[in-house]
Amino acid sequence: MLLELKEIKVHYDGLEAVKGISMNVAEGEIVAVLGANGAGKSTILRAIVGLKAPTSGEIWFKGERIDRVAAQSIIRKGIALVPEGRKLFPHMSVHENLQIGAYARKDKDIAKDIEEMYEHFPILRERRSLDAESLSGGEQQMAAIARALMAKPDLLLLDEPTLGLSPLVRAEIPKIVRDINQKRGVSILLVEQNARLALRLASRAYVLETGTISLEGDTETLLSDERIKRVYLAG
Ligand SMILES: Nc1ncnc2c1ncn2[C@@H]1O[C@H](COP(=O)(O)OP(=O)(O)O)[C@@H](O)[C@H]1O
Ligand SMILES: [Mg+2]
Repeated sequence: MLLELKEIKVHYDGLEAVKGISMNVAEGEIVAVLGANGAGKSTILRAIVGLKAPTSGEIWFKGERIDRVAAQSIIRKGIALVPEGRKLFPHMSVHENLQIGAYARKDKDIAKDIEEMYEHFPILRERRSLDAESLSGGEQQMAAIARALMAKPDLLLLDEPTLGLSPLVRAEIPKIVRDINQKRGVSILLVEQNARLALRLASRAYVLETGTISLEGDTETLLSDERIKRVYLAG
């Protein structure tokens, strides 16, 4: 397994936000985590990248235990997070945001990689000198993804990439995610409230309900599950 979570619990003071969940991502996989607002999805991603220490349980990446490792070291080991709400540096240019994405890297060959991001996302080249805050929602999402890719991750964590995007722009996200997975060989853990989109993209999924995994399996099975249809795919 590339990533393995074992019985992870995460607390915010007295609140148990994640109640002992286990999940994994194999090399090359796209895995989705579905769940309503407040289910604990972002908390899990923050725990994986070392931004929020789990209270108990273990997290393993490439055969190494990482749940007590500092965030900066985790990014060096090959995990990058695209946070919920993009979290770009609003008053810095797109180009500067991409440079920051490489901050933890020891090699200095980042200009070439930024160029590659501009090849991959031509709109970012056009916007390169603009402040990140002036970009549209979809452009900001691309910039946030490109910034994370600048860390050269083996595993990319995407937290609600379609949130707040218009339906037209939202429709572009699956291709972007698939390209990153197939062309770059990056494994992906995708958190989404849009279950339909996530289940089409991923090969497996976990359904999270108030800090507990209520259902898991391959996405084909989940797409035909009556409960999933009723609760997550209705309308
Ligand atoms: N910084 C925080 N301090 C206190 N409680 C938090 C914090 N972040 C999240 N929570 C709580 O933890 C639970 C899970 O939140 P979160 O992981 O953000 O859920 P999701 O991403 O699935 O919407 C919620 O009850 C939320 O209110
Ligand atoms: Mg969230």
